[in-house]
Amino acid sequence: MLEGVCAAYGESQVLYDIHLHIESGEAVTLLGRNGVGKTTLLRTIVGLHPASRGKVCFDNEEISKLPAYERVRKGIGYVPQGRGIFPHLTVEENLRMGLAALGGRGKSARHSVPDHVYELFPALRQMRRRKGGVLSGGEQQQLAIGRALVTRPKLLILDEPTEGIQPSIVQQIEQAINDIRAELRIAVLLVEQYLDFAWAIADRFYVMRAGRVVDQGKTKGRDAETVAHLLKV
Ligand SMILES: Nc1ncnc2c1ncn2[C@@H]1O[C@H](COP(=O)(O)OP(=O)(O)O)[C@@H](O)[C@H]1O
Ligand SMILES: [Mg+2]
Repeated sequence: MLEGVCAAYGESQVLYDIHLHIESGEAVTLLGRNGVGKTTLLRTIVGLHPASRGKVCFDNEEISKLPAYERVRKGIGYVPQGRGIFPHLTVEENLRMGLAALGGRGKSARHSVPDHVYELFPALRQMRRRKGGVLSGGEQQQLAIGRALVTRPKLLILDEPTEGIQPSIVQQIEQAINDIRAELRIAVLLVEQYLDFAWAIADRFYVMRAGRVVDQGKTKGRDAETVAHLLKV
């Protein structure tokens, strides 16, 4: 889905010749230390940052020039780093914001939240009238994932979903992502610092260093420790 993508902030280049592909239904993790360009790479896929070179493709179609809402319509769902919950809106309003990401001047935001989201996260239904800002970190992460799922994406992109989440809740998020894959047959692209979590979800991995992909392979049969070593050097 990425072919030779480069990206920059002004004069400073952040991504160099990135090639990355995800098969339908596959789960892929993108690893790398802070500042190597992972978030920027995700933002070029979802249309929030332009690629200065190369192509972004999805479903055998080039989408490099499409605005973000068109990419949502094509089937790309995005859970940003830090979750991006609206603290003063209720849980239900936050979920409907996912529909607004489809464009159409926010009309769709008045439509109701599809059942599959509440089925996946029953706690969100119970909390639907609460303000997003009063939820715990784990509940906010469920909300952010739920919001990305209201548009029924074919690919769900998650940027460090375990960041700032209590260890006891991390397992629930892992379960939720694996359920999403199994029940909704959605492909996953996961940026993660927490290797055990990434290994429990992903079929394949990519490792980035200083804006380049430096290693890739299957997670099965590959010890997470040998990859952890790569992240340190
Ligand atoms: N909005 C921005 N303006 C300028 N530089 C940025 C901006 N966002 C990120 N950067 C820089 O781009 C590089 C990659 O950042 P980022 O993609 O956030 O990395 P990661 O997600 O791997 O931590 C870093 O050097 C960072 O300082
Ligand atoms: Mg980041």
